[in-house]
Amino acid sequence: MKDVKRIAVEIAPGVETEFVDRDRALAQVVEWAERGTRFPVVIFGPEGCGKTAFLRQASVMLRDLGYDVFYLHPLDKVFAAEVDDADVKTLFTELVRKTLEDERWGRLALAVFDLTREILKKRRRKIAVIADDVFQAIGLDKAAAYVKGLLNMIEHPVYSYENIVVLVATSEGVSRREIGRHFWAELRPMWNMPEKGFQQLYDKMPEPKPPFEEAWRWTGGNPRMFGRLYSSRWAVGRVAEDVIREKGLTAEFVRRWGRWLEAAVEDPEVLWAGGAPEELARELEARNLIVYNMYDRDPYFWIDAPPPRRDPELGIGKNAAWQTPIHREAVRRALNEAG
Ligand SMILES: Nc1ncnc2c1ncn2[C@@H]1O[C@H](COP(=O)(O)OP(=O)(O)OP(=O)(O)O)[C@@H](O)[C@H]1O
Ligand SMILES: [Mg+2]
Repeated sequence: MKDVKRIAVEIAPGVETEFVDRDRALAQVVEWAERGTRFPVVIFGPEGCGKTAFLRQASVMLRDLGYDVFYLHPLDKVFAAEVDDADVKTLFTELVRKTLEDERWGRLALAVFDLTREILKKRRRKIAVIADDVFQAIGLDKAAAYVKGLLNMIEHPVYSYENIVVLVATSEGVSRREIGRHFWAELRPMWNMPEKGFQQLYDKMPEPKPPFEEAWRWTGGNPRMFGRLYSSRWAVGRVAEDVIREKGLTAEFVRRWGRWLEAAVEDPEVLWAGGAPEELARELEARNLIVYNMYDRDPYFWIDAPPPRRDPELGIGKNAAWQTPIHREAVRRALNEAG
């Protein structure tokens, strides 16, 4: 995508670059801007694949395309109302200030409904609501209700709008399931970066770095994993050990699932169609180790480029995939350590 202002991102502490590639996703933003989103678009995908970076980039683009933009990212305590209406901006700023004090995120998330109405009361406008990881903040049990509220805003606005774009991201497999039970959103997966795009990011990374092939083989194109490996000076084993602890891959856990986990390390698809217990798939999904119930690779269903249908080297199966090769490596090591 030429002519797109790209935001600055930090890929590792002290290593700044600009938002790289994701050209198809950016073209999707332009399309949404032209037509609006008929449903809230709920984006999910591997942790660190770039959902937040993408939503930040999308916010800037939508603003440039004439949108009033509300941006909410409670986990990072970042909130912005890039809107022309000065009164609404003041109201929002005041609310953010209060919320940072008492941490009642739900109130802020809900305020967006009133503020949008306030803007539209005065003039027909283009409105974007961008909510990143709000479900953890408002409570997973309220995720579906919140999405329904967003849908109502699109379907039954009190004052008419020119266009509306609603984008939501979640890194929780659980919230995806909760939302998926209703026809209230378009659930759209986003994968790690495609090889060509990842190559661009790799080129921007200062030395020392391993050959591209190796960076690709360990990260599968996941920019956060790339940053972590970089910060550890490419100590793959150490990063994998960290993942073992973060994910609570205790000896008890890996022994309990032993044989099935070993099979899943070889080929994650056993979790879907290979007779593995569904409870194991759910446990791995809840720990953000795999993405389960993947979509058809028709680009229509995806944000940016879909992953390949199958890539045994990266641990990608048709319906189940390891989030990155390092996630799989952590499980492999945990199995070895448990004997
Ligand atoms: N297109 C990109 N170009 C350059 N850097 C990127 C890009 N996408 C993501 N990054 C960097 O990769 C890291 C992880 O990205 P990000 O935080 O957006 O992932 P995420 O999918 O939101 O993760 P989580 O699931 O934990 O919320 C960040 O440091 C981010 O700046
Ligand atoms: Mg994020």
